Amino acid sequence: MKPKVKEAILVVDDSRNTVEILTRNLNKQGYRTFSALNVDDAIKILGEMELDLVITDLKMPGKSGLELVKHVRDNYPNIEVIMITGYPSIQDAVKAVKTGADSYLPKPFTEEELLKAIGIAVEKLRKKKKLNDAVTERYYGMIGESKPMQKVYRMISKASATRANVLILGESGTGKELVARAIHYASSAKSAPFVPVNCGGIPGELLESELFGYVKGAFTGANESRAGFFQTADGGTIFLDEISETTLAMQVKLLRVLQDKMVYLLGSRKPQRVDVRIISASNRDISSLVKQGIFREDLYFRLNVISLELPPLREREGDIILLLKYLLNKFSKEMNSKEKTLSDEALQIFLNYYWPGNIRELENMIHRLVIMTESAVINVTDLPAFMRYSTAQKTFDKTLEQVEHEHIVNVLTSVHHNKTKAAQVLGIDRKTLREKLKKHRLENGE
Ligand SMILES: Nc1ncnc2c1ncn2[C@@H]1O[C@H](COP(=O)(O)OP(=O)(O)OP(=O)(O)O)[C@@H](O)[C@H]1O
Ligand SMILES: [Mg+2]
Repeated sequence: MKPKVKEAILVVDDSRNTVEILTRNLNKQGYRTFSALNVDDAIKILGEMELDLVITDLKMPGKSGLELVKHVRDNYPNIEVIMITGYPSIQDAVKAVKTGADSYLPKPFTEEELLKAIGIAVEKLRKKKKLNDAVTERYYGMIGESKPMQKVYRMISKASATRANVLILGESGTGKELVARAIHYASSAKSAPFVPVNCGGIPGELLESELFGYVKGAFTGANESRAGFFQTADGGTIFLDEISETTLAMQVKLLRVLQDKMVYLLGSRKPQRVDVRIISASNRDISSLVKQGIFREDLYFRLNVISLELPPLREREGDIILLLKYLLNKFSKEMNSKEKTLSDEALQIFLNYYWPGNIRELENMIHRLVIMTESAVINVTDLPAFMRYSTAQKTFDKTLEQVEHEHIVNVLTSVHHNKTKAAQVLGIDRKTLREKLKKHRLENGE
């Protein structure tokens, strides 16, 4: 969705002609423009106007474009900078990027090249703005507005209007327990208990006595009678987490409770009537366990009256940004610190990461980063190596030319402009490097 008001751009160049051409082009595209013929005027305008992007020439009489770049970087972290220059040299490009220009455009450039560079800068701005403006509205205490989550919310409201059993499937950390609670607390049984039971974490015999309770003397150590989870949950909801981990013997017993709505306390022949809704969850595909004979089909049918599948985080387009905003705010508050933010590059890595542990992993990561990072901005270097290196680049909007250009500039920076070393790193000979520098207009003025 395009915002109604397009970005405000400040054009800085000592050539009136260039300023006019640029602003005309930008106005044609609907951008709001401001202009200055020198750095001092530009700094004044920056102080008075709300700007999004600065396009500045490098060489100007008086203060140079680099000083302007530095001023913007030091004072306006949310403004993007594009550097242009008519005297391209490696040093200039490297300096511009090092000082903090977001991109570099050598003159002469075509209108198309200009708009492309602006398009990339604006896209970056909008992403950043989205993080800052993210509304953390919560549905059933959950964050997320993506299509698959909308479907989940609809299912939660349907399920909470009934007493039917619900089976929740989804990868680990996708929010299965949260959804189970949401269904219970949105239902008419909300004032009755919600009793979570981790079926995978309790050994077989113990699980039985925990679920169904026992009478005094039922087994050695049963010194007094105790109610089980089913009785505790009477009138409310029992949440059987990791249901796939129950033994076949336990499944038979559960089936009986479901059929008869009765539980037998261990050591007693007298059944007790219970009215309990069962919400169960698993991160395994139960239907395939049924096929393998590990899970009883009849129990599966009874548990799976309403089935709800939670999407993994990587399929929840747009939700990561909402969750980031929510979690950064939450953990910063917990630490009594000012809200921490992510740098552009760090944000990009978060958006592209695969998130095998889903929301739980995202939550732990942000918690740790908020605690460990001392500065207000969390940078790429603060991220664990596995995140930094595992990103698959999702945006494929660059030409091979552009990638080559950027890579050469980066390599040159890293080897302090030593062309022999640069050629080695790039795996080409010096002659080829010279040709490429020429092609990319990166050769020295000399
Ligand atoms: N939509 C959401 N908004 C905010 N927080 C969420 C959301 N979904 C899950 N969480 C949080 O993520 C964490 C993991 O959620 P939960 O325990 O419900 O997942 P799970 O699917 O049961 O995971 P596991 O399979 O590991 O048991 C919890 O801290 C939960 O509060
Ligand atoms: Mg869970």
